[in-house]
Amino acid sequence: MNLKKITAIALGAVMTVSMAVPTFAADDVETVTDGKLTVATSPDFAPYEFYSIDDDGNPTLAGFDMDLAKYIADKMGLELEVVPMDFDGVLSELAQKNVDLGMAGLSPDPAREDAMEFSDLYYQGGQSFVTVKDKADQFKSLEDANNKDYSIGAQTGSIQLDLANENTPDADIVSLPKVTDLITELLTGKMDGAFIETAVAESYQKNYPDLVIVCDVPYDTVGSAIGVSKGNDALLKAVNAAIADALDDGSMDKFIADATELAAGQTYEGTLDDNGAVPETDDTAEDAE
Ligand code: ARG
Repeated sequence: MNLKKITAIALGAVMTVSMAVPTFAADDVETVTDGKLTVATSPDFAPYEFYSIDDDGNPTLAGFDMDLAKYIADKMGLELEVVPMDFDGVLSELAQKNVDLGMAGLSPDPAREDAMEFSDLYYQGGQSFVTVKDKADQFKSLEDANNKDYSIGAQTGSIQLDLANENTPDADIVSLPKVTDLITELLTGKMDGAFIETAVAESYQKNYPDLVIVCDVPYDTVGSAIGVSKGNDALLKAVNAAIADALDDGSMDKFIADATELAAGQTYEGTLDDNGAVPETDDTAEDAE
């Protein structure tokens, strides 16, 4: 065996070892702002993302998407910057590459694939049809909701809006920018039913016991992914490696448990005012009209 061959074998061995331990050096990956990981989210979606309110009434962005965002940024050696906005804004900011990632309980909908890449799934979840106690008797199944006399809601830009159009095409389908708006409309009797992600519906139900989850709604992909700026393959790779680690080392389970606990406490779901405070009167439903 000549020296060249030995060196090649030795080098091969070194490479295998270093490939098994992924390094997410920040300089390998280009981001919108150097040294930062910029993440768009829509904090109306507990336990994924919401504001946790402390004893003094101060809001902190929380949820398992936010913990995972921090985990990924740390792995990559980047500073995390989260930009809260309505859900349809998350989709368009990511499509325009103004942010690196969209972390908002995103379903990897094939219809979005022109605008973004999707990471591997990091959470398994389902879809639900929701109403209020007073109306629960009217909805024995999803077919009952497909009636022109009913106002049925879903969040603007979401796959739940597609589910509403598929399952209840005869109903008056209303799309609103925040899940919070849907909840307000349901509780005030203006809306009869809504399509909401199951984990989120369960979380709202804890704070608003009048809500009733009627049934599961079938949907092709049972899970959530991270939206990654289109064409940034290095970033997609780093994100997938970090997700694999978080699932593997128990971090993701902890993020979910922590978020579920926090979401059962004082929360605010929506966007803050210009001073970074919870808006005084939370009349989001009126804003939507
Ligand atoms: N999973 C649904 C979708 O991707 C809804 C996500 C809404 N997220 C949010 N943070 N409000 O369309």
